[in-house]
Amino acid sequence: MLYGKRVVLRAIEKEHLPNYVRWLADPEVLTHFGLYLPLSQADEEAWYERQRSDAKVINFAIELEGVHIGGCGFLSIDHRQRRAEVGLFIGEKQFWNQGLGQDALATLVAYGFEYLNFHRIYLRVFAENTRGIRAYEKVGFQHEGCFRQSEWRHGRWHDLLVMSILHPEWPGRGTDADE
Ligand SMILES: CC(C)(COP(=O)(O)OP(=O)(O)OC[C@H]1O[C@@H](n2cnc3c(N)ncnc32)[C@H](O)[C@@H]1OP(=O)(O)O)[C@@H](O)C(=O)NCCC(=O)NCCS
Repeated sequence: MLYGKRVVLRAIEKEHLPNYVRWLADPEVLTHFGLYLPLSQADEEAWYERQRSDAKVINFAIELEGVHIGGCGFLSIDHRQRRAEVGLFIGEKQFWNQGLGQDALATLVAYGFEYLNFHRIYLRVFAENTRGIRAYEKVGFQHEGCFRQSEWRHGRWHDLLVMSILHPEWPGRGTDADE
């Protein structure tokens, strides 16, 4: 388990999967999220098995006081280049805007730098996802660039921003001089 200030990141169990199915069928959750079609329970079970044996992926369930509220993790892990992309969502909407996204992301980033020895952690976010962008900035992610009109959703094109944080920028880093 990874302990944040309020949230806990723990291994995903099969009993978590119905929550993912419910959240990923919610148009509000999907407004700024990459998925474009609802996933079935069978899809989620197949995803669960796939990601368990994928060395480029590490996923966690986000819990608050024992309640499963979302998911986060690393994808595209590249140990030679010491980088990974991060993905994050809080599916239980009543918990948005309470600092929990920042807490989960900061916990994941700390794990990435302090245990997985990453140098660079990056994410992609829709330019219109102002809440997400604000949360990522507050964790220390910097704006890196924009893929213009990169994604077709809601009947129009959307810009996709890339943000990242480097190990030397992370305030919790140790003293190893690796840069
Ligand atoms: C994006 C997401 C992970 C953020 O997590 P969260 O717990 O809701 O966000 P936090 O409360 O940690 O931080 C949000 C910040 O944005 C601010 N904010 C909220 N709405 C905002 C808006 N419309 N514009 C700008 N800032 C906004 C909040 O006030 C807060 O800043 P503060 O700490 O200075 O008060 C979560 O809302 C979510 O999962 N949304 C749905 C799926 C999604 O978009 N996932 C991300 C895909 S990249």
